[in-house]
Amino acid sequence: MSKIADELIAKAQRRDVVFGIVGLGYVGLPLAVELAQAGYRVLGYDVNPRVVEGLNAGRSHVKDVSDARLGTIRDRFTATTDATRLSEPDAISICVPTPLSKFKDPDVSFIVAATESVKRTLRRGQAIMLESTTYPGTTREILLPALESTGLKVGVDFFLAFSPERVDPGNPVYGTRNTPKVVGGITPECSRVTMALYQPAIDSLVPVSTTEAAELVKLLENTFRSVNIGLVNEMAIVCDKLGVDVWEVIEAAATKPFGFMKFLPGPGLGGHCIPIDPHYLAWKMRGLNYKTRFIDLAGELNTEMPVFWVRKVAEALNGQGRAVRGANVLVLGVAYKRDIEDIRESPALDIIRLLEQQGARVSYHDPHVPAFQEDEREFRSVPLTPATIEAADCVIVVTDHSAIDFHQVKRHARLAVDTRHVLPPGD
Ligand SMILES: NC(=O)c1ccc[n+]([C@@H]2O[C@H](COP(=O)([O-])OP(=O)(O)OC[C@H]3O[C@@H](n4cnc5c(N)ncnc54)[C@H](O)[C@@H]3O)[C@@H](O)[C@H]2O)c1
Repeated sequence: MSKIADELIAKAQRRDVVFGIVGLGYVGLPLAVELAQAGYRVLGYDVNPRVVEGLNAGRSHVKDVSDARLGTIRDRFTATTDATRLSEPDAISICVPTPLSKFKDPDVSFIVAATESVKRTLRRGQAIMLESTTYPGTTREILLPALESTGLKVGVDFFLAFSPERVDPGNPVYGTRNTPKVVGGITPECSRVTMALYQPAIDSLVPVSTTEAAELVKLLENTFRSVNIGLVNEMAIVCDKLGVDVWEVIEAAATKPFGFMKFLPGPGLGGHCIPIDPHYLAWKMRGLNYKTRFIDLAGELNTEMPVFWVRKVAEALNGQGRAVRGANVLVLGVAYKRDIEDIRESPALDIIRLLEQQGARVSYHDPHVPAFQEDEREFRSVPLTPATIEAADCVIVVTDHSAIDFHQVKRHARLAVDTRHVLPPGD
């Protein structure tokens, strides 16, 4: 047992720890708030000065963290763009983005940059946790050698672990605190320290034996969703060809009390996780000469769904003797899922692009996304009124936001294609 580890654990128990968060986005900010509410002092570091200025002025840019909630931690939370201040925290969680490159390979450049910042001020007695979703091996292959190049030794002088974030934006029941958190350290001491540091802020911690296991837990969770969504999306195509109602089939199957888990078809996958993370694993395995067939197939099926739904719009218009070219199409919802404002990877963007490529005039309504930019163009949400609905030759429901009045849509739409099965039956 190392004395440095014991000291850090004792500090955590006294809430005498300064916690650093690198990357104050959808994941980092809610974590910062939870840690501060548990009694720690929190220093948030972000490279985006607008984010930092806003937070220091009490303005949250993340929907799940209200300004009021940010206000409750004002005396324990500071944000900075000054990386040299990363010497102050005893513990640092790295929550930076992990996107894909143009060729769908992992882009770990944000992790590398964040690691460089942490390395420059690394000191004895610090614990570093990576939270960003990434391929198995990242913590040991990228962070460990960089941090040990300082001459400090992992598990002795400093501690290093992977602990995947499981934030589900917009989820009213599960947040950072009450979602169990997995922890895998480079050494047993690293795990012991990390568990003690998170313990005051997280209700339930789940230790695993290595950083690779912890990295894979997150990828299994997201691959599980991607594969099952791919399966029901394929079932939607199958049912369409057979003239069967896929939702009726799924609802009936879901009455089986064991051995079935309900997933719903839709317009395709969106967000920063499910469409992206499985590719991190597929890429890693390609390097080991193994093809992850389930991942690849689910990815293909899910990314083809916008094409399927645009074809449904074309068929519906055709049924009324109209072409897609020149038709007014109103897209309802552009966020990638219900009740959030995030449009990253949203299938709505593909649907809009495909419709426009076929000559449709596309407008959209989204109560959470007043405007967005895509391909250097600015799109603005139109109000949802009987007039705007009636003006559309076809309405396509992409996101089932609870703020959208689907009864009104049903009453006034001349033609509707419903990717979410939320339009009420004739009324
Ligand atoms: N959003 C989710 O629902 C979710 C859920 C679970 C896990 N994750 C994972 O968590 C990680 C972070 O995702 P996010 O959604 O919070 O991203 P985000 O884009 O919302 O926030 C990331 C923040 O990091 C900052 N940043 C970028 N590079 C930096 C650097 N070198 N140093 C300091 N700050 C830097 C950015 O300015 C931004 O504010 C990703 O790996 C993601 O896959 C996301």
